[in-house]
Amino acid sequence: MIRHRPLGLALLVVAVTALAAPAPAAAAGYPYQDPTLPVTTRVADLLSRMTLDEKIGQMTQAERGSVTASDLTTYRLGSVLSGGGSAPTPNTATAWADMYDGFQRAALATPLAIPMIYGVDAVHGHNNVYGATIFPHNIGLGASRDPALVQQIGQAVAEEVAGTGVDWDFAPCLCVARNDRWGRTYESFGETPDLPSSMSTLVTGLQGGTLGGRPTSVLATAKHYIGDGGTTGGDDQGNTQLSEAELRTVHLPPFQAAVQRGVGAVMISYSSWNGVKLHGNQYLITTVLKGELGFSGFVVSDWNGIDQIDGSAGFTAAEVTTAINAGIDMVMVPTAWKTFISTLRAEVQNGHVPMSRIDDANRRILTKKFELGLFERPYTDRSWTPTVGSAAHRALARQAVRESQVLLKNSAGILPLARDNNKIFVAGKNADNIGNQSGGWTISWQGSSGDITPGTSILQGIRAAVGPTTTVTYNQRGTGINSSYGAAIAVVGETPYAEGQGDRTGAMSLDREDLRTIATLRNAGVPVIVVLVSGRPLDVAGELPNWTALLASWLPGTEGAGVADVLFGGYAPTGKLPMTWMNSVDQQPINAGDGQVPLFPQGFGLTY
Ligand code: GLC
Repeated sequence: MIRHRPLGLALLVVAVTALAAPAPAAAAGYPYQDPTLPVTTRVADLLSRMTLDEKIGQMTQAERGSVTASDLTTYRLGSVLSGGGSAPTPNTATAWADMYDGFQRAALATPLAIPMIYGVDAVHGHNNVYGATIFPHNIGLGASRDPALVQQIGQAVAEEVAGTGVDWDFAPCLCVARNDRWGRTYESFGETPDLPSSMSTLVTGLQGGTLGGRPTSVLATAKHYIGDGGTTGGDDQGNTQLSEAELRTVHLPPFQAAVQRGVGAVMISYSSWNGVKLHGNQYLITTVLKGELGFSGFVVSDWNGIDQIDGSAGFTAAEVTTAINAGIDMVMVPTAWKTFISTLRAEVQNGHVPMSRIDDANRRILTKKFELGLFERPYTDRSWTPTVGSAAHRALARQAVRESQVLLKNSAGILPLARDNNKIFVAGKNADNIGNQSGGWTISWQGSSGDITPGTSILQGIRAAVGPTTTVTYNQRGTGINSSYGAAIAVVGETPYAEGQGDRTGAMSLDREDLRTIATLRNAGVPVIVVLVSGRPLDVAGELPNWTALLASWLPGTEGAGVADVLFGGYAPTGKLPMTWMNSVDQQPINAGDGQVPLFPQGFGLTY
């Protein structure tokens, strides 16, 4: 692009540019390419130059594994995503940046050189990337009651995300989890709207005060609109049966807060409201979200979300039309994106989808791309790549772990433990397992047990916390313990899961291995401190009298030393329950104010 330069120098610039960097497309000197013009002017100019296919391409988001770079050029695709765990090989920050730049180069090799936008689920750190800092999941951040901390986390995550080129984060989840059976309870900041609303500071952390106002500004996404956490039975992608007044009271405030913070995108929920799939609900998407709340960003579907509108597999022309006319602006169609493009083209040409809707969707999408600065800075700023997994970010994550711990029982003041002259036995399947303490959405979609990424296990944190005169013995099942030990720490709970695969329709107790481990420790006559690593409250009332202490650790992520900081008094616990803790699984759903008597109420938490 040559602008405001004398011809001779212009020719020199062209020659050097041609050698030095990928030359963007032939387009040169159009108003939309002038960053000194208002965004509205640039959008209007660009829109006036776009063909229908270019407009439909901007509304199409494909998964990285189902497109080639040349597909972006050929089909004018406007967005690419990584589904959970979808990473380049090798899975390094640099390889991510190279992948991103490759797709971007292809997107810019189109007549109008419209940059693509790349989305990921960085829901507790840049969690698809090996070596990235993994922060506590939202349920633990809700326990911290620290919106300023959450904003700092957002900024740190944005630095790591931007360092890999990626410019769009499908976070925060602002769901209000009302039934702990739901497999996504840990993605909720709390069971009442005040908590997710207060933690909408993550939006500001990710985007900055104004979108594109800093090099690491990343587009945030409020999800999943609306009522995903309110389904009957906690059934993931199920049916939220509420009056409109209840839906507005419980599930709308966090989205109002996010819109007020200028969130750039909103993702639609798979769930239904009184039997109608959200992906086809024009009233809630257009009338309420875009009209009443004044949301000016763009609405993206969930993964193959439009397929569910009619209840049968795949999508039809009718579902495409219903979704777009309901107000969805970009469709996450990971693999069948060619079919989507041809279907939407036909639906526009036959008048089922008005061009005004197509133009509105494009205005929204292009506005965010201009505001993000993608037209001026389309490629990775590699100066941020070294922030991935940096010591500074890990220190912040450790602070978040400290603040997220909730002390629920502390008989005889056994906590904090003495660092010196002590003899401690550590057991439990979650004591020395980075994968288990990180939970779902970590390296892979579902997460997995084991040393899946660099970090500090809770056991490693304990070993580092004690002095030279203290011994720490570890055995996962407690084998070898005897009465000579001053205390036993049992780190137990859940193993990783995500979304519906985490739904628990039956008992919500500890598993047999955990119960046996704790029994082994108790039978040695040693006081047992239970550290519960889980994505939700569990049904522990029957066991609690046998435990000397109980610490809810949630899903702390890679910085397990933060748990030891609390156990040994380096940080006195300040966490407060974001969810009511059931007295029995039969109480589910159980929430503040519902009249039931819990084991521990929302807001409960002891300190030293
Ligand atoms: C998933 C989730 C959503 C995520 C999207 C892309 O199914 O519902 O939270 O952002 O697909 O991975």
